[in-house]
Amino acid sequence: MSASPDHTPGALVVDPSRPITPAEQPARLAALEAAVRARSDLVPELGIVLGSGLGGLADELDEAVAIGFGELPGWPAATAPGHAGRLLLGRLAGRPVVMLQGRFHLYEGNDPGLVVQPILLCRRLGASAVILTNAAGGLAPAFGPGTLMLITDHINLSGRNPLIGHNADGIGPRFPDMTDAWSPRLREQLRAAAAAEGVSLAEGVYVALSGPNYETPAEVRMLAALGGHAVGMSTALECIAARWAGLEVGGVSLVTNAGAGYSGEPLPHEEVLAAGAEAGPRLARVIRRFVADYDPPAG
Ligand code: HPA
Repeated sequence: MSASPDHTPGALVVDPSRPITPAEQPARLAALEAAVRARSDLVPELGIVLGSGLGGLADELDEAVAIGFGELPGWPAATAPGHAGRLLLGRLAGRPVVMLQGRFHLYEGNDPGLVVQPILLCRRLGASAVILTNAAGGLAPAFGPGTLMLITDHINLSGRNPLIGHNADGIGPRFPDMTDAWSPRLREQLRAAAAAEGVSLAEGVYVALSGPNYETPAEVRMLAALGGHAVGMSTALECIAARWAGLEVGGVSLVTNAGAGYSGEPLPHEEVLAAGAEAGPRLARVIRRFVADYDPPAG
């Protein structure tokens, strides 16, 4: 990084809570793009976000260039346990992809505009679709630990939205449509990939809360009654920004635990990570097969 003309101590410290309006994104994305392009000229077809415990897929990238989040302008190093916090460009099953090994969460104090910047950067680098993965709690009694759930839709109960503020018309419209936010085309391709790998895939609606606490049993009952099948602390804002920017979106939740209240036991974060470690390789196989057989949008 070049020396700052501002010699105030801490002048280069990133404040991840500083509000970022949509209108500010183009300039920030230009700086991010330049920083990435100084390291790699690979143009990705797909972006893939690896959630808690799923980071292992990054090891399967060929010819990978890895950039720590903290090395990119305006990005803090990721702090959530189980998240490495790297952007990688490389080939998976022969296809050029950009992978986010980790993400920015609201519960870390990150502004929604920062939470979605990795997604907007995927678009800027050339991707036309993103696959979002996460760890989640099961809201249906049938969705126990280890269940993989194809995301068919989401409910954003995080209380935040990355598109509030002056719009950047060059990226997307003021009022983006969310019908089929979770692409039926990509859903079909993910189903086919799971079938080809002999991996069973449940389907359902992902509910996003801000976290960081896990839900109360009453909240779990409420979210299930509202039509949710899995609950987590990420992904919905990323989908909103992706649709705004014209990206196709697909995704899978890895259910690491039954929602609070089902088991009668407390939910330690270590248990969530352990279930991710067990089921993560299964999800990795589905994603790898999806990428290998990926059918890009027409035109
Ligand atoms: N709730 C919210 N987020 C989660 C959970 C949960 O039970 N498990 C993993 N991420």
